[in-house]
Formats: sequence, structure tokens, C-alpha cells
Amino acid sequence: MQKVAPSILSADFVNLERDIRHVAEAGADYIHIDVMDGIFVPNITIGIPVVAAIRKITDLPLDVHLMIDRPLRYVERFCDAGADILTIHAEADTEEHNLEALRLIREKGVRAAVSIKPNTPVQALDPYMDLMDMILIMTVEPGFGGQKFMEDMMPKVRALRKIIDVRSPGTELEVDGGVNPETARICVEAGANVLVAGSALFKAPDTAAFIDQLHQLV
Ligand code: DX5
Ligand code: ZN
Repeated sequence: MQKVAPSILSADFVNLERDIRHVAEAGADYIHIDVMDGIFVPNITIGIPVVAAIRKITDLPLDVHLMIDRPLRYVERFCDAGADILTIHAEADTEEHNLEALRLIREKGVRAAVSIKPNTPVQALDPYMDLMDMILIMTVEPGFGGQKFMEDMMPKVRALRKIIDVRSPGTELEVDGGVNPETARICVEAGANVLVAGSALFKAPDTAAFIDQLHQLV
């Protein structure tokens, strides 16, 4: 069964604890936290102290998505703040620095992941294959919630599903951006097993039913 990771970018930040407890009770598998620096993406969101604060109020794995330039500078601090999965972007630094960042994350006992933006081909992940516990395929241009799902990213998901099944069946394959029950089906059919959902999930009148619907897709 695929996992559901609510993106708290669409939560009510004034009531973040309430919203996180709500999605946890509704059956969320991970809490997806979008960290943006205003440089790698044109938006600024939340940082290390907020991750540490969230760590105190939930036992759910924290799936921290770093949309920041040169993440090597910060990965240890995000691990110490309580990330369980830490995702860097392939485009955010040199291959050498990204490899070092992934090794550091794993040394900290945290699961390491790499994401690629819509214009980045899957081949960009090749150097990191042996160091990734999860791969994140962006199905929108990173930076903002509430954008339209890019179905043309599905060939990447299908290609990676084949590679993962042969090389490392334990590696998770996550999609992020524009996920709702309709587009989630397309993602699951293509081979994704972790579904990030922000605006659609937080807008849903019945969160538990929404999450259940995504869990039940086959
Ligand atoms: C976008 C973020 C996403 C975003 C998804 O850059 O990485 O996690 O919150 O939001 P929706 O589901 O609204 O597209
Ligand atoms: Zn994200």
C-alpha cells in the first residue's frame, strides 16, 4: 500500500500543531516539510527551528524536502533537528558535494533522498543510486503549493520504478506536486509508492477519507 505524506505547506501555520495532529489521526504516514530558501526556489518557508518544534509533537516520520542551494551546508543540522528522511535536490550543488551530503545524512542514521525538478532528466540521479533511500520526482516546478500536476513526469516515474525493482527494491519513490485522488491514481499506476499532497489534502472536507482513498488506490 502506498504511503501518504501531507505537505504542511498547506496547513494553517498559526495552528500547525493542531493540523499535524489532525493529519496524523487521519492516517498520514509521513509529515512532509517543505524547506525553501528564496534562492533555489523563489519562495521562503520554514527552517531548522520549526522542524525541531514539529519533532516534539509527532512520532510520525518527518520527510524533510530541502529546496535550498548547496544543502551540504545544512544537512547535519536538519538531521539533528529530527528529520527521518532528508531530501536534497540534484540541481542544488555539484555531484561531489551532493554525494558528500548524502553520505553525511546516512552517517547521521537518517534516510537520504534526492529530488529532481521537472526539467531534470532521470539520468541526473545516476551518480547517487547507491546512496538513496528514496527518490522524489517533482510533478510541479518546486516553490509553491496549489499548482497543476504535470502528467508528463510519469515516464520518469515508470523508468525509475523499473530501475528500483531491479537494483534496490527497498528504495521509495515519491511524487510531489498537484497530487489529488485523480492524479494520485496516475502516479501509483506509474509506480510511485509515496504520495505528497498539500492543498488537495488540507482542503478536503474529510481528511481521513481523503487519505484512505489514496491508500486504497491499486
Ligand atoms: C512544492 C512543494 C510541495 C507542495 C505540494 O514545491 O515541494 O510539497 O507543498 O503542494 P500541492 O499538493 O498543493 O501541489
Ligand atoms: Zn515538497
